[in-house]
Formats: sequence, C-alpha cells, structure tokens
Amino acid sequence: MISMSQSIDRTQSTALFERAKALFPGGVNSPVRAFGSVGGTPLFMEKGKGAHVWDADGNRFIDFCCSWGPLILGHAHPHVEERIIEAVRKGTTFGTPTRLENELGSLIIDHHPYVEQIRFVSSGTEAAMSAIRLARGVTGRSKIIKFDGCYHGHVDALLVKAGSGLATLGTSSSAGVPEAYARETLVLPLNDLEAVEQCVLAYKDEIAVIAIEPIPANNGLLIQDESFLRGLRTICDREGILLLFDEVISGFRVAFDGAAGFYGIRPDVMAFGKIIGGGMPVGAYASTAEVMAHIAPAGPVYQAGTLSGNPVAMAAGAAQLTECLRPGFYEDQDRRTQRFVQGVLSHAERQGYPLRIFTRGSIFWLAFSDKVWIRKSSEIDPDSMAYFGRLHAALLRRGIYLGPSGYEVGFVSAAHTDAIIDEAVDGFRLALDEVFA
Ligand SMILES: Cc1ncc(COP(=O)(O)O)c(C=O)c1O
Repeated sequence: MISMSQSIDRTQSTALFERAKALFPGGVNSPVRAFGSVGGTPLFMEKGKGAHVWDADGNRFIDFCCSWGPLILGHAHPHVEERIIEAVRKGTTFGTPTRLENELGSLIIDHHPYVEQIRFVSSGTEAAMSAIRLARGVTGRSKIIKFDGCYHGHVDALLVKAGSGLATLGTSSSAGVPEAYARETLVLPLNDLEAVEQCVLAYKDEIAVIAIEPIPANNGLLIQDESFLRGLRTICDREGILLLFDEVISGFRVAFDGAAGFYGIRPDVMAFGKIIGGGMPVGAYASTAEVMAHIAPAGPVYQAGTLSGNPVAMAAGAAQLTECLRPGFYEDQDRRTQRFVQGVLSHAERQGYPLRIFTRGSIFWLAFSDKVWIRKSSEIDPDSMAYFGRLHAALLRRGIYLGPSGYEVGFVSAAHTDAIIDEAVDGFRLALDEVFA
C-alpha cells in the first residue's frame, strides 16, 4: 500500500500532456478527460487488463471508470479481443452490409422486448440525434422535451439548458448553438410530472418527443420515482408524443434490456451506445418495425454513416453481449457492486462521514450529502464537489481510478472480482479517512 503522503509519479503523463496541449484544445479530445474538476495532470493510460489500468508512468489502478461505461467485461476481455483480431484480419471496413451487423442486430432484437428493428451508428451522440430526428419525422412536430441533468451527447438541440425563472423554453448551453435551435427544446426538472403536464398543455400538439435518461447518470445518479417514468408513458400515449429512452449508459448495464426492462416500461424509441460496441465506437437507435420504417432508405427520414455497422466494432459488440447473456451475469454484477457499496458505506456510517452512494445495477455514484434521495440536479450541492476532488487524489495514491469528476458515475465490471472489490473497499476506507481527517 502506498503511503498517504506519497503522491503518484506523473512524469510521463505530465510530459505527454504538455505535448497534447499543443495538439488538441485543452490537451484532450473530450473535455472531462482534462481533470478540470479534480485538478492536476490527467493520467495518460497505456494499457488495461481486466479491472486494472496502467498509466504511462507504470502506476497500476483498479479502474472504476471503465472508459465511462462501455467495458462491462473489463479491459481486453479474451473473447472480445479474439473476435476483434479475427475481424481485423478480414478487413476493417467495406462500406457494404456484412454478416456481423446481422449477428449483433439479432443478438439485441432477440433479447430485448421493445426492439423490433435497430440502426447502428458510431456514437451515442449520433444515436440520440438520429432518434430525435426520427421522432420529429414520425410525428411531424418539432418541439422536444428534455430534462435538466440528463445528457444526450453534444447534439445542438440537446445542448440546451433551462431558461431563467419558470420558462421552459431552453437556452443553449454551448457557444455555437443558435438560440433558434434551443427554442425548439423545452427543458424541465426531473421527477416532476406536474411540470410535464403543464408543458404539454402549453405546447399542445407541438411536442414530438420526450427524451430522458430513464436512469439519469450524467449529473450524479438521479434515480427517478418509478411513478414519474410511468407517468411519462401515460402522457406520451395520451398526447401522441414519442417517449425516447436514452439508454446509452443504462442499456445492457442494469439489465440486458436496460432501464426499459428493469422498470417494465415500453419506450417508443431507444438510443444505445457504450456497451453494445464492446469498447469500439458504436451507437444505435431502435424502435418498432413500424416506426423504424420511417428511416431511409425504407422511409423519408434521412440518416447515414460511412463507418456505421463497422465490422470490427460489430464483432466486439457481439462478443461482449454474448457474455452479458450468460445466465446470472447481471445478478452477479449487482452482487459485487453491493459488496463494494456496502463495504464503503459501512465504514462511512461508522465514522459519521456524510457520504451516500446511490446505485442501480453496476452503476454507482458517490454523493457527499446526507440526503436520503437526490432526484434532481438542483438537489446536488456544488460545494460538496470539493470533497470529491480530495477523495479522487487520495484514491489515486491508493491505486484506485475514478472518472475525474464528482458529477460522474462509476462502473463495476465483470472483471472486478470479490478480491479486487475488497482491495478497493480497503483503499476507499483509507482515502475517506484522509479526506475527513
Ligand atoms: C445518456 C447518454 N447519451 C448520449 C451520450 C453520448 O454518447 P457518446 O459520448 O458516445 O457520443 C452519452 C455519453 O456519455 C450518454 O451518457
């Protein structure tokens, strides 16, 4: 065990980051990687195996980021690796249909009660963007409802935050998104059915889709009341609005059939990503055959992609989902996650530390709070993030890697064995003692 005061060697990561800063805006190719909210130099990872990653300085960590969710089997799972290599040897892309698309498509459709047809794309952003276009194409309406605290990728129409006061009309949350686009997006608080009722009344027959992460996991883990999710279904049925479940994180994670299966709520359209690609860039959107018939070339809603259904990515996804379908896979994920969560929480409770860990399936979120539930982003205390920054550093010193933001969730993979979980629990306990010393 590394001693408390010793900080990790970041010589190589620091040099690599210096170079990267000249090459990429902020030195990274996706913002949260920059360690902006925890401070310090981002670690440049060099390899991963199972539940572990190694950085460029040779430091080893138990990895609870798991590439932000795709790696439900852990790093470099032998079956995924084999199938990737086999696919690469046959050629990396053809721009034609391949047998592998059928394989991954069937694996999903045969085991998901709400998916009759699917379209593969290359990222979760593309999946959400295309699902929104589909919903607009099907309904002939243009406005969309999203919820404050849900993330659906960096689509213009979804980079929108709530307007001031009680206004539901969105305002763009990024430079470069025209206000005219933002005005098509209505932003509501999570877990507030009355706000949804009022909004659909105010914009009667104008709303194409209600988009939600059914298990919101991008701004903490904001577990919704089941009655709220069911209420959305009822409102959508009554108003002719499509219900979009963005299951980019929750899909194939909390259950093979995601939050839809977990809650037994039928969405009209689903967006997927992360796990279905087995660590390669894949997204997808899906619905009934009738709704998907609106997509080109079958129908008038255009959507395309040079690398969509890429054979290497399809092979990786098929290998990973095949493992997920093994009997007891999700039960075991949940059991080990609870072992971890309870192990950490029992210590925090004994010591009187203000820590909660919210969890669904193998997703967890550390909240420095004594609230019983946090269901809306407005209920997160921004000042509590200072604790997370200190914990993150203390965990790195103990060989444990979390995504570098207190608003992000962590993931347990199938490679996190009981022994690794127990080692991590020990590290967390010591790190918490240090934070609260
Ligand atoms: C719920 C959700 N939707 C969409 C996206 C966007 O996916 P990607 O980063 O693959 O574009 C993310 C990414 O984290 C996500 O969590």
